[in-house]
Amino acid sequence: MEKYIINGGNKLYGSVKIQSAKNSVLPILAATVLADEKVEILNVPQISDVKNMVKILACLGCRTVYDGDSIVIDSSSADCYEIPSALARELRSSVFLLGAVISRFHSAKIAYPGGCDIGLRPVDLHLTGLKRLGVQISEKNGYIICKCDKLRGNEIMLDCPSVGATENIMLAAVKAEGTTIIKNAAREPEIEDLQNFLNKIGAKITGAGSGTIRIDGVKKLYGCEYLPIPDRIEAGTFLIGAAMCGGEVVADGIYPENISSLIHKLTENGCKININNDKIVLENHKILTSVKSVETRPYPGFPTDLQAQYTALCCICNGHSIITENLFETRFKYVPELRKMGADVTVIDRNAFVRGVEKFKGATVVAYDLRGGAALVLAALAGEGNSEVIDISHIDRGYGSFEYKLRKLGADIVRVTV
Ligand code: UD1
Repeated sequence: MEKYIINGGNKLYGSVKIQSAKNSVLPILAATVLADEKVEILNVPQISDVKNMVKILACLGCRTVYDGDSIVIDSSSADCYEIPSALARELRSSVFLLGAVISRFHSAKIAYPGGCDIGLRPVDLHLTGLKRLGVQISEKNGYIICKCDKLRGNEIMLDCPSVGATENIMLAAVKAEGTTIIKNAAREPEIEDLQNFLNKIGAKITGAGSGTIRIDGVKKLYGCEYLPIPDRIEAGTFLIGAAMCGGEVVADGIYPENISSLIHKLTENGCKININNDKIVLENHKILTSVKSVETRPYPGFPTDLQAQYTALCCICNGHSIITENLFETRFKYVPELRKMGADVTVIDRNAFVRGVEKFKGATVVAYDLRGGAALVLAALAGEGNSEVIDISHIDRGYGSFEYKLRKLGADIVRVTV
């Protein structure tokens, strides 16, 4: 097991290069199963979720080669439709493979997916969508088993705009016979990125980014080189960190409009923010002012993936805040850990009631999930004294070179194996 040892109190100065979005790269890697030729994905983040997805592709018989920050995938040799249970349980996004694998082999078998323990995270919408395309689904001994003679386009209305279900249906529909329309589709930028990737290899998809997506089935998909969009959550995490620690940080290589909900909040908190094309510069030298309330919502609302980091920020604002988590029911697991660091937070149902304190103080805390773990790191960096953040494997799922990037900005953080 590994942990971070952090000596808090340093201000952050400098520029941080943002990685490609984890939540784009994972479905795009799943989509490569559908390509009939070699695909190269550029600027891939060095994170364990991606490594696990690449391992699953290799188990399916795809040839995968890392070339620096790129991965080349040749799926022409794929010959297996069973996703190994140990890997599927490590990685929730393995469920995206269902749509791609069923399209490729007309059969798929996968163990119920894992990932962060942030609530129930059902897959009913994924399965209902696949059934509408003609897939027969059964469940046995913790496995989802899918079969079909032929995939046929259909109209699918999602009960809620699930990111994963939208992506899975897109993947199953791309080579289906006829037209598929997804209504109440998720509008996250990563969905549009998946559309752009699929269209680059020959798909016919329109509407991603809006609530209605149209997929006209095609027979063949080709190869390409593709650069996924920047990671708005990684960028948001560094900006929140800069606001909490003070200093001046440039998030470099991002699409600022993709995190405008956060930028608005940070401006209300009193940070000075300048946007210059693909760079956001955040400067803060003062005690932050609290915002009254923040609610997580599907895009373009405030992202649930920044909720924990932003709650940590609210803890050291001057005043009270209420943070409401509308997407995942147990996404406040990090709160008792923040309390060990001196935060004054009470969670009732889906709301965290925060009274700002002057500073976090050093403590030993446990990272129970990816974004909650990142929030603890930011609290430790902004606090006074020494902290240890234990079990950082969750953080490694989503942040590549996290401590290197933080150290470059002036943070005192080291990784230790215990
Ligand atoms: C994706 C992101 C995750 C992010 C989340 C919400 C990836 C790899 N992960 O997760 O980082 O936190 O979007 O922005 O892209 N739901 C159902 N039934 C389903 C599917 C979802 O009820 O079949 C519900 C969920 O319980 C949740 C809501 O829909 O309340 C949103 O979940 P969803 O958008 O599917 O999240 P993920 O795709 O799992």
